[in-house]
Amino acid sequence: MSDSSTRAAEQADDEISHPLFAKLYDVLPQSILFEPHREYLARDLSGRVLELGCGTGDMFPYVAEHATSSLEYHAIEPDPHMRKRARKRAGETGLAVDLRGARAESLPYPDDSFDVVIASLVFCTIQDPDVALEEALRVLEPGGEFRFLEHVHADGWRGSGQELLNPLWAHTAGGCQLTRETIPRFVSHEAVTVEEIERLDLGFFPVAPFVRGTLRRKRGSTLE
Ligand SMILES: C[S@@+](CC[C@H](N)C(=O)[O-])C[C@H]1O[C@@H](n2cnc3c(N)ncnc32)[C@H](O)[C@@H]1O
Repeated sequence: MSDSSTRAAEQADDEISHPLFAKLYDVLPQSILFEPHREYLARDLSGRVLELGCGTGDMFPYVAEHATSSLEYHAIEPDPHMRKRARKRAGETGLAVDLRGARAESLPYPDDSFDVVIASLVFCTIQDPDVALEEALRVLEPGGEFRFLEHVHADGWRGSGQELLNPLWAHTAGGCQLTRETIPRFVSHEAVTVEEIERLDLGFFPVAPFVRGTLRRKRGSTLE
């Protein structure tokens, strides 16, 4: 890549920039609630693993705790303010992370590069979740696991309330959308089989329900 195209790519990454959200993210009273679910995402990791939109690196301590000697951990995060904190967190936890400034919609890795892809609280915020899912499956090797923890659009009056609140919420919460139909998006993809999906007793209106699960990229699946 030439210097000018490198600069252009960096500027595009820097368009996602929420310094205040990055600063507040680690002091939100959330971490304890997510603990068992971060453990779920980090269980028995080995081989090449990619985390999408790692934020301030809240997954890193869990990954470090379970890491085997064969683990090669990669993460992408487009917001430079989040990324700076994630680098610090990686150093503090002693986890070797290959951390890059990139978006989930345009992953800087070849096809079939990873054994596991992790999405933790990120498909609510990614600007184009359909393209991001396609990319996640492209870089996942056939038979590989896609593990996720996400909050999604609620049913009934809660869902209507989320639709009303969404513009204000997205503005204050770093672009997070309350109304994403993430589970139908995931399970309807023809290249995946569902290993497990669990609705969680976690969170409060308007940030609920939460769902976690594991999908597997079908062997022999081809992607567009
Ligand atoms: C709610 S935070 C979640 C952070 C972290 N994954 C966690 O579990 O705490 C959402 C993250 O997605 C990142 N993000 C925003 N747009 C993205 C994109 N297009 N691709 C990847 N990450 C993105 C944000 O910068 C932010 O760090």
